[in-house]
Amino acid sequence: EKGGYEHFMMKEIHEQPKAVKDTLNSYIKGEGEQKVIDLADVGLGEEEIKEIEQIYVVACGSAWHVGMASQYVIEDLADIPVRVELASEFRYRKLPVNGKGLVIIVSQSGETADSLEALRLAKQKGLKTLAIVNVVGSSIAREADHVMYTFAGPEIAVATTKAYSTQLICGYLLAVQFAKVRGLIDDEKYDYYLEELLALPEKIEKILSDKERIQWFASKFSNAHDIFFIGRGLDYAISLEGSLKMKEISYIHSEAYAAGELKHGTISLIENGTLLIGVLTQKQLYEKTVSNMTECKSRGAYLMGLTTYGHYEIEDHADFVVYIPKADEHFAGSLAVIPLQLLGYYTSVAKGLDVDKPRNLAKSVTVE
Ligand code: M6R
Repeated sequence: EKGGYEHFMMKEIHEQPKAVKDTLNSYIKGEGEQKVIDLADVGLGEEEIKEIEQIYVVACGSAWHVGMASQYVIEDLADIPVRVELASEFRYRKLPVNGKGLVIIVSQSGETADSLEALRLAKQKGLKTLAIVNVVGSSIAREADHVMYTFAGPEIAVATTKAYSTQLICGYLLAVQFAKVRGLIDDEKYDYYLEELLALPEKIEKILSDKERIQWFASKFSNAHDIFFIGRGLDYAISLEGSLKMKEISYIHSEAYAAGELKHGTISLIENGTLLIGVLTQKQLYEKTVSNMTECKSRGAYLMGLTTYGHYEIEDHADFVVYIPKADEHFAGSLAVIPLQLLGYYTSVAKGLDVDKPRNLAKSVTVE
């Protein structure tokens, strides 16, 4: 049942190229330059898309991290303001609604109690709701106005990998389609984004083929007390996910920080040998994050850099570097997250922990 892998998590990590491809192929229709994103199954029409004035992405855990990443992509491409909310917070706040809002609930299981209640609240407020869900027929899928399924297949390991990756894809597809419908990108740019999206599965495959290097690195740091992940913009969103993967299955305390925020307190935790991982896929933010990394190095941190092929000058600063293939920067997170999933996985294995069923956690959190 684990397909020859030792754990479901590793099997699911390896299923990502296919899961991503299946999700892309479910929404991208047509051949060659005639390819289009088709949201007919989601039931989100052009008029409805044009009317959206505000988007809320509401979710928990890794699904919330998908919201964080989607925020950057939707705001950048489609120019619609996006707020990302933890479902357990969204529920208990007054929510002033001005104008036409779309609430996107992201949930693998479709049964997370807080996410379900947040969906119900949004509906009560008269907001349109769209659920990005993996489990067909789940409560959230049944109650939302629109459903965009992720085609990840069943996910068994508590730590999500392929569901997260397919949720990201849904976020990108919505961003590109919203941008197109609202007249913000021309046909050429649209085709380019679709090609870039369709190229992701092969690039993920390529990263997976080099996993032994990450395994080696994980064994070096499996006794760490703290690990810090930093990045700016989309790289911050990916850092959040990398950090959660690490802590939930390896039980090593870790934090993700927006790189510029580190020096407002957290940098005092850096000691000799503390591992700091810098995510560097966004060209415009690259230098700034590198400079935050070197600040930590001068305080004793051991630096791992995660960047795209070509940025070889990073080796002047970082002690260990992982390169990922180039992709359009909006979608680079889908690649950057893979080594971070592997790092969490191999650290857990090196510590002899129960990778698929970490302590105190359930796959689906149906309590509030
Ligand atoms: O089923 P959901 O997507 O609603 O679950 C949300 C979170 O509980 C989930 O993503 C959790 O954070 C994962 N264990 C992270 O790997």
